[in-house]
Amino acid sequence: MSSKTLKVDVDILKKYSKAGPRYTSYPTAPVFTEDFTDKDYGRIIKETNEAESPSDISLYFHLPFCRSVCYFCGCNVVYTKRGDQADQYLDYLEKEIELIAGMQTPGREVVQLHFGGGTPTFLSTDQLRRLGKAIKKNFTLADNVEAGVEIDPREASDEHIKTLREIGFNRISMGIQDFDPTVQKAVHRVQTEELSRHVIDVCREEKFDSINVDLIFGLPHQTVESFEKTVDKIIEINPDRMAVFNFAYVPWMKPIQKSIKEEDLPSAEEKFKILKMVIEKFTTAGYVYVGMDHFAKPDDELFVAQKNKTLYRNFQGYTTHAGCDLYGLGATSISQVGNCYVQNKHELPDYYQMIEEGRIPTWRGYELNNEDILRRHIITRIMCDFELTFSDVEKEFDLDFKKVFALELSELEPMTKDDLLTISDEGLVVSDLGRILIRNIAMVFDTYLRKPEKEMRFSKTI
Ligand SMILES: C[S@@+](CC[C@H](N)C(=O)[O-])C[C@H]1O[C@@H](n2cnc3c(N)ncnc32)[C@H](O)[C@@H]1O
Ligand code: SF4
Repeated sequence: MSSKTLKVDVDILKKYSKAGPRYTSYPTAPVFTEDFTDKDYGRIIKETNEAESPSDISLYFHLPFCRSVCYFCGCNVVYTKRGDQADQYLDYLEKEIELIAGMQTPGREVVQLHFGGGTPTFLSTDQLRRLGKAIKKNFTLADNVEAGVEIDPREASDEHIKTLREIGFNRISMGIQDFDPTVQKAVHRVQTEELSRHVIDVCREEKFDSINVDLIFGLPHQTVESFEKTVDKIIEINPDRMAVFNFAYVPWMKPIQKSIKEEDLPSAEEKFKILKMVIEKFTTAGYVYVGMDHFAKPDDELFVAQKNKTLYRNFQGYTTHAGCDLYGLGATSISQVGNCYVQNKHELPDYYQMIEEGRIPTWRGYELNNEDILRRHIITRIMCDFELTFSDVEKEFDLDFKKVFALELSELEPMTKDDLLTISDEGLVVSDLGRILIRNIAMVFDTYLRKPEKEMRFSKTI
C-alpha cells in the first residue's frame, strides 16, 4: 500500500467490533501456564545456545515505575514517588542480567535493545547510566544495534534525553495520548502541548534516528472534533511514526480504569468515526498504515520490511528483527526464546526472591507444539504481510492448506462479501478495510478461541 488516503467504512467497523487478542504472541498470554517453570526455561536457553548457529538477540528491559497514575493505563506499572525503589530494582535486574548473559554462547550479538515500562525515565540519569553499563558489560551489542526507549515527557528532563543518547539509544517513543485538556484531566494525565513539543525538539537536537508518538483513541470526552485537533497538531509536529492505540478498557484486569466513568467514554459509533478520521487524516498527510494501530512514513524501515515480507511481530509490536531470541528482563517481562514464551514474576517481592535464590524469575510460560508453530506462522504472516500464499505454507509445513484449513476458509467467506479480503486458489489478500480489522481475520486461525480452557477476555478489536 502506498501513502494514499485509506477510506474507512464505519458500518463494517461496527459489524466486526468484538473482543480479540492483539497477537503479539501466538498462543496468547492466557494460554501460558505455571507448569512451565524456570527449569524448563533454563533447558530451552541451553538448547538454543547449543544450536549450530544461534540467532541474534533482542533485549527488552521492563522498568515498571511511574510517579503518577494515568487512569487509562493498561501497562504493568508500580506507582511510587521513591527513587530509591529503582535502586533496589536495579540491584536485582543486574543479577538477572548476569544470570541470563552467563547462559549465552559468547559472541552472540544483541541487535535490538528496548527499555519499556512503566516509565524508564523514572530512573535518574545516574540510574540509567548504571543500567546501560551493566548491559554493555554482560552482552555484546552490535555496532548498529537498534536501541529504543519509551519516555513520558513529564518525566524526561533535557538531561535524561542527552543521557539516553549517550548510552546509545537511537530511537525514542513518547506518550502524548491526547492534547485536549478536558481529556487529559479526566484520565489524570495533564501534559501541556508546550512540554511535549519541547521534548520532541530536544530529541531532534540530540539526533535520534526515529521519533514515535503514542496516541489513544476512545478516551473519556473524546469526540471526532476534539481528537481531530490533536491529530492536526501531530501532523504538524511530523514524527517518524505514530501508534494510535484503541483504548483497551479492561477494568476487570486493571482496577485503576474504574476511575474512568463509563458514561464519559465515547459511544461505539463515535469511536468508529474517530478511527475513520484518524486513518484518513494520517494517510492523506503521507503516512502509511502499517497495521494494528501503527503509522509510519513510506521510507520507514517498518514499511520497507512490510513490502519485503520481512516484518515480524513480537511482544513489542511490529519489528524488523525476525528470528531473534527475545530475552525480556525485569518484573513481568515476556521472553520468546526458541519455541517458547516465558513470563517473569509479576510482583516485585516474588521477582526479587527468585533472583535471590539464584533462579531465573519465571512466573509462567508455554512451549509451542507443532500445530501452534504452524498457526503462529499463519497468523504472523497475515498480521505482517496482509496476505498469505497457500503454497508457501504448504512447502514449509508439508500439508494441503485447503484441506487442513477448510473450516477457517469457510469462516472467512462472509468476510470476503464485506470486502475485508479476497480468497483465490493461490491464497488470500487482505483489503485496505481488512487491514483495520486484521485481528478479526487472524482470529479465525486461533484454535484456542474455539475451545477456551481458561477464561480468555480481551479488549475490543475496534
Ligand atoms: C509504557 S507507556 C509509554 C511510556 C510512558 N509511560 C508514557 O505513558 O508516556 C506505553 C503506551 O501504552 C499506551 N497505553 C497504555 N494503556 C493503554 C490502554 N489501556 N489502552 C491503549 N493504550 C494504552 C499509551 O499510549 C502509552 O503511551
Ligand atoms: S501510561 Fe505511561 S505514565 Fe501513565 S501510568 Fe501507564 S506507564 Fe505510567
